[in-house]
Amino acid sequence: MKLIRAKNYKDMSRKAANFLSAQVILKDNSVLGLATGGTAEGIYEQLVEWYRKGDIDFSEVSTVNLDEYVGLDAKNERSYQYFMNHHLFQHINISEKNYHLPDGKAEDIEEECRRYDRLIEKLGGIDMQLLGLGENGHIGFNEPGEAFEQMTHCIQLKEDTIQANARYFSSKDEVPKQAITMGVKAIMQARAIVLCASGARKADILKRVLFGPVTPEVPGSILQMHPRLIVIADAEAMGE
Ligand code: PGA
Repeated sequence: MKLIRAKNYKDMSRKAANFLSAQVILKDNSVLGLATGGTAEGIYEQLVEWYRKGDIDFSEVSTVNLDEYVGLDAKNERSYQYFMNHHLFQHINISEKNYHLPDGKAEDIEEECRRYDRLIEKLGGIDMQLLGLGENGHIGFNEPGEAFEQMTHCIQLKEDTIQANARYFSSKDEVPKQAITMGVKAIMQARAIVLCASGARKADILKRVLFGPVTPEVPGSILQMHPRLIVIADAEAMGE
């Protein structure tokens, strides 16, 4: 594990964007695993800025996102597809056929999960996976539980996740109760993982994820077993 200390959110965002951008420069047809949420916003902002300066070319890049709410589609401003369009895809030269999220409106959710696993396999796996961290230790929407769920699956969101995500909705009741998420297998098979955390509210869980026992009760703890894990955390998330 490589642990990189950032001064603050902006510094964390720039450092993470540097890794993603280096990945694309080294391999122009990289498959990037992407994440949504407040942690990722600054990273995408930085990538867009560098794209506009002509420093990164996304024309050959493919992306797969970790997760999507069940029942929401791209037109819904709370969907992760909307988030990705808004913060990244519409600002860069990525081809529409090359970015992928689970379809939260799929009629057959089980089949959609299988399709997503096949898609990741067909793309040849993920070169670099960006991850945020839930306050309950989740990665993607792999919530604390009794086992590490290997494959893409539909999950019931835990109360603390619904509470944490309510800030994006007009009320807590509007937060969808289910989501489709990539399982830990696809995440762990990524050739490199960049885990980012910012702010004091992530300090306790980050410590448990990186240095506590590896247990499905703290889903992110599995990352300790990854051979190329890069952690970028700001001073507050490091508990300083
Ligand atoms: P955040 O969410 O980046 O908005 O803190 C991370 C997560 O829940 O995975």
